[in-house]
Amino acid sequence: MPLVLFVAEVGGSVIGFIEVGLRSHADGCDTSRPAGFVEGWYVHPSYQRGGVGRALMTTAEEWARAQGAREIASDTWIDNEPSQKAHEALGFEVVDRCVNYRKAL
Ligand SMILES: CC(C)(COP(=O)(O)OP(=O)(O)OC[C@H]1O[C@@H](n2cnc3c(N)ncnc32)[C@H](O)[C@@H]1OP(=O)(O)O)[C@@H](O)C(=O)NCCC(=O)NCCS
Repeated sequence: MPLVLFVAEVGGSVIGFIEVGLRSHADGCDTSRPAGFVEGWYVHPSYQRGGVGRALMTTAEEWARAQGAREIASDTWIDNEPSQKAHEALGFEVVDRCVNYRKAL
């Protein structure tokens, strides 16, 4: 499955990025076709709340749409409230919550 990294630059310095790919299945999405998936999304703190994250997400969505995806999914930690607010401001809806386990072998 394809995976790409888009960066935002100011004066030749990278100040943010979004990593987006396709996944064959993503929670809450139609399983009959691959969905876009945001693997990583970051803006340097000095540039946050200025629209950079939105621009990166728009680019990721356009890329996923061009790959044939009709949905894009993402995830974040349950205690990362700023990220949850940003996702929701950009039109994402919560579809699931997850508990992670481990067991030594
Ligand atoms: C999440 C992140 C990438 C957003 O980038 P950003 O450049 O600050 O985002 P923008 O300024 O483009 O904001 C996009 C929307 O989210 C909202 N938003 C962003 N941060 C917010 C916050 N802390 N609280 C509430 N809303 C927020 C903005 O208001 C905006 O909506 P609007 O255009 O309707 O006003 C950035 O906060 C970040 O890098 N956080 C640390 C890493 C992280 O948590 N990444 C996500 C993990 S999946």
